[in-house]
Amino acid sequence: MNTKLYQINENHIDAVKIKEAGRIIKEGGLVAFPTETVYGLGGDALNPLSARKIYEAKGRPSDNPLIVHICRWEDMDAIVLWKEKQGSLKEQAKKLADAFWPGPLTMILPKSEKVPKETTGGLDTVAVRMPEHKTALAFIEAAGGYVAAPSANLSGKPSPTMAKYVAEDMNGRIEMILDSGAACIGLESTIVDLTEEKPVILRPGYITKEMLQKVLGEVETDVTILSLDSGQAPKAPGMKYRHYAPKGELTIVSGESEKVCGYINRQLGMASLEGKKTGVIATEETCRNYAADAVKSVGEREDEAAIAGNLYRILREFDDENVEIIYSEAFDTGGMGQAIMNRLLKAAGHHVEYI
Ligand code: TXA
Ligand code: MG
Repeated sequence: MNTKLYQINENHIDAVKIKEAGRIIKEGGLVAFPTETVYGLGGDALNPLSARKIYEAKGRPSDNPLIVHICRWEDMDAIVLWKEKQGSLKEQAKKLADAFWPGPLTMILPKSEKVPKETTGGLDTVAVRMPEHKTALAFIEAAGGYVAAPSANLSGKPSPTMAKYVAEDMNGRIEMILDSGAACIGLESTIVDLTEEKPVILRPGYITKEMLQKVLGEVETDVTILSLDSGQAPKAPGMKYRHYAPKGELTIVSGESEKVCGYINRQLGMASLEGKKTGVIATEETCRNYAADAVKSVGEREDEAAIAGNLYRILREFDDENVEIIYSEAFDTGGMGQAIMNRLLKAAGHHVEYI
């Protein structure tokens, strides 16, 4: 298959190209598109065959449900079964939508019959998100209103924050890629499950627990998010896979800054003696203190937005440069730091040295 690549200026959307992209989805094909979090791999959410194609293109297990992307609140009624929890469920969802949509928040809700089980990985619930990116919104509308989309990476690779990474993974596998430049947030959306008694965060992201609590009152966090030792399976099936992983062996080192630096440099020295290519994920404040083949700064330590925005790109760069041994500093877990550490821990297979 020949994959078409279209540049779309988010502020001057080319209606003809977007219409063509929408038609591909309506005809059962796949189009990768930009969102403010990461690039998505879109197919018709109401067509079971499209879901199968998505799993095939990603090389992803089909028990891992997809997020349905919409562009209008009114479109929820067709795909969500509001009957449970009576009116309050819809009220809760509406409150969240008013506060955070369009934006980086995904809600888990009971699904209607219209949504095929192929899209939801066999679950009775559906994940719904209205992205903020203008290209995404125009594309979803042109596609008929319901676009199922996981992140547009091959399974096990870091989510793509730029179209060139989508092309690397998906060229020849899908009909089209829409390129609107770098994703501005860089980490996937926050997922909140509204089907439980109390809302539960299944995946941390840009919308933090504190922000959700302001709107909903009590909000819980799935215990499996920051540790693998809880002995429980995560409720978002995708969270159990070793995601976001670079090819090299990644270890996080946590502790007081100077000690971390000393420890990492000693480890790097040993790896170099073994002839291994080495890399470090550091911050603006510390990046000059390391001796590795590739030292990459994710941004200033206090600048969570920069760290989130750079992390996946850096993991991919280590792959491109064939770095074999990677060390990363640890980050604070307040606010969006929780999402950052959650992704970093997964990339490292939860391998952390505390010193
Ligand atoms: O920011 C994002 O959410 C991006 C962009 C493209 O919108 N999408 C994304 O999709 O990250 P994906 O497929 O990579 O991650 C979806 C996550 C998975 O962990 C999946 O298990 C979970 O959402 N999920 C989907 N439907 C669910 C459901 N009904 N119940 C629980 N978890 C669900
Ligand atoms: Mg993903």
